[in-house]
Amino acid sequence: RIQRRNIQCRRDIDSFAPKFLAIFESLVPAEEEIAKQRQLINSLNNLISREWPHARLHLYGSCANSFGVSNSDIDVCLSINERELGKAEIILKLAEILEAGNLQNVQALTRARVPIVKMMDPQTGLSCDICINNLLAVVNTKLLKDYAMIDPRLRQLAFIVKHWAKSRHVNETYQGTLSSYAYVIMCIHFLQNRRPAILPCLQAMEATYVVTVDNIDCSYFDDVNKLHMFGARNREPISRLLWAFFHYWAYQHDYTADVISIRTGTLISKHSKDWTRRIGNDRHLICIEDPFETSHDLGRVVDKFSIKILREEFERAANILQYDPNPTVTLFEPY
Ligand code: GTP
Ligand code: MG
Repeated sequence: RIQRRNIQCRRDIDSFAPKFLAIFESLVPAEEEIAKQRQLINSLNNLISREWPHARLHLYGSCANSFGVSNSDIDVCLSINERELGKAEIILKLAEILEAGNLQNVQALTRARVPIVKMMDPQTGLSCDICINNLLAVVNTKLLKDYAMIDPRLRQLAFIVKHWAKSRHVNETYQGTLSSYAYVIMCIHFLQNRRPAILPCLQAMEATYVVTVDNIDCSYFDDVNKLHMFGARNREPISRLLWAFFHYWAYQHDYTADVISIRTGTLISKHSKDWTRRIGNDRHLICIEDPFETSHDLGRVVDKFSIKILREEFERAANILQYDPNPTVTLFEPY
């Protein structure tokens, strides 16, 4: 079922921009919350360096990529070079250190797909997950943050899309819908492909940040201060972008043939990646290429039931933005 409907946007779409901007502002965390996160990382770094002087903690995920809403859990990665210990042993040892340091609800999840220690800090009230040596996540966090500095409309769009996805329960990977990380990648791809473009393709430009993680080349142009005028020729406000984003995913994306790729800045074919067949649990019903782990489809969690739910939600959102008298309210009505 491929539909390529080109619907004319409603005439009053721009009049909703101030209300959507107000929603965006209300979702952005306050400075004091960011200060609390830093305070927690510093005290954890002190605890850990007594046992492992060369280990370091990095923030990653939404508290460091600038796409975090208030009160999200914080994601932390311990980078450590311990040749004698396996990951599970490091996790157990880390849990011991944290308990001795008076952190609460410390749980070592050694058998999870990504082994982590969970805990809560009674001083700041923050909950946090610590994983081990997941440096790709630290690098993709930086990539997202750098994209966010180029044009303010990326954060506006991504916050509102995440808020919609949470309200409508389509941000739950264990139920076959998409991660926050996948939604942000979808927003970046969409803004790379507006005409005139709002975002460039940083991985296609001359690299100023050069790193290799797990044999994967993660280089890209990160001197983003030079790009702050990049999107200036495109004057579309957030309301129009939201309309077009949901229209794209509801009526224009070719789910049978295309993969979105922010690495290349364009669509690429499922065929070229050999993502046309189901292999194991990977069904490739909506294809979102990870910018660095290119064999990794962020849509792999989506199954034949959840793809239907997801596409119905894209259509609902597109129709609300096209016809509803109060789209800034109706869009987020709980499922
Ligand atoms: P919220 O917690 O919902 O606010 O969003 P988040 O930005 O923290 O996203 P999420 O919890 O989905 O993921 C946390 C981080 O883990 C992301 O920012 C990525 O750095 C990383 N990550 C998540 N999923 C994947 C994945 O499938 N592949 C890779 N390489 N990294 C991932
Ligand atoms: Mg998170």
